[in-house]
Amino acid sequence: MQSDVRTKLIEAFSTANGTFISGQQIADYIGCSRTAVWKHIEDLRTEGYVVEAVRNKGYRIITTPEKVTANEIQLGLQTKILGKKVHYEESVETTQKIAHKLSNEGAPEGTLVVAEEQKGGKGRLMRPWYSPKYTGVWMSLILRPSIPFHQAPQLTLLAAVAVVQAIENITELKPQIKWPNDILINRKKVTGILTELQAESDRIHSVIIGIGMNINQKQTDFPEELQDIATSLAIAGGQNISRAKVIQEVLMRLEALYELYLAEGFLPIKGLWESYAVSLGQEIKATTVNETIVGKALGITDAGVLLLEDQNGKVHSIYSADIHI
Ligand code: BTN
Repeated sequence: MQSDVRTKLIEAFSTANGTFISGQQIADYIGCSRTAVWKHIEDLRTEGYVVEAVRNKGYRIITTPEKVTANEIQLGLQTKILGKKVHYEESVETTQKIAHKLSNEGAPEGTLVVAEEQKGGKGRLMRPWYSPKYTGVWMSLILRPSIPFHQAPQLTLLAAVAVVQAIENITELKPQIKWPNDILINRKKVTGILTELQAESDRIHSVIIGIGMNINQKQTDFPEELQDIATSLAIAGGQNISRAKVIQEVLMRLEALYELYLAEGFLPIKGLWESYAVSLGQEIKATTVNETIVGKALGITDAGVLLLEDQNGKVHSIYSADIHI
């Protein structure tokens, strides 16, 4: 976890928003000496930041390194809770495992775990999640909502809406959601979401929302088995995108939706989710552990369950399945 001093330093630069901020102002903000400020700025430089220093004006950040460290994420991040604590790693097995551990140790709500690569990334239904270095966003977020256990899947749907809105906001692309939580562009998967719970009887300790986003991969970067079904924002939009910017945008959207959800419940989120959903009203195939059902996707329930009407007019509630559109 990065130090509080570093968080405050980045906050100070964020507030200055690209203009100069004096060493004294930074020192006052952090609560340290000007010599200490100078030392912290030298640390930033060794990490690849270009910091301009002008006598009688102060400091300003010119460029940031293209990584997704806590600094990159927090510089310009306009949230109240999400991402205020960032745990960054260059390489991990899975960010989910780290988030679970931090959660057990009492990490505050909004703590984000992010890595440049995952060697054992986890997908839904025990599948692996391909997470190569520096090209995607691999992150897990700790939330601690006071909601009953059975409502937790609603947060997965909420996260999917946040991702769609974030992509729409920073690109010209029009992503869609395939139930429950695949984000598609041109019918290929660009993002997957894995939600895991820490709970005791009906009490939720935390919800760990894992989000995997393909950002700057080229089509040939994907392994053969994913070539036809996966895409990235760069492939779909024709240009590379700052991964830190994507993370910031997702966190900001997620926080706004999470606040809405805590204030007004699932209904407004459900409406948004349905407006982005692919294949609602159309025929799809759902493969559950027991059977394959072909039918019309009617919508989702308040608990986020998919309703599927088969050829005989029988409506099936789908709790977990692979969907083919
Ligand atoms: C899916 O199968 O669609 C869900 C994929 C979720 C992948 C993300 S990447 C960050 C977090 N860490 C993991 O190991 N999995 C999730």
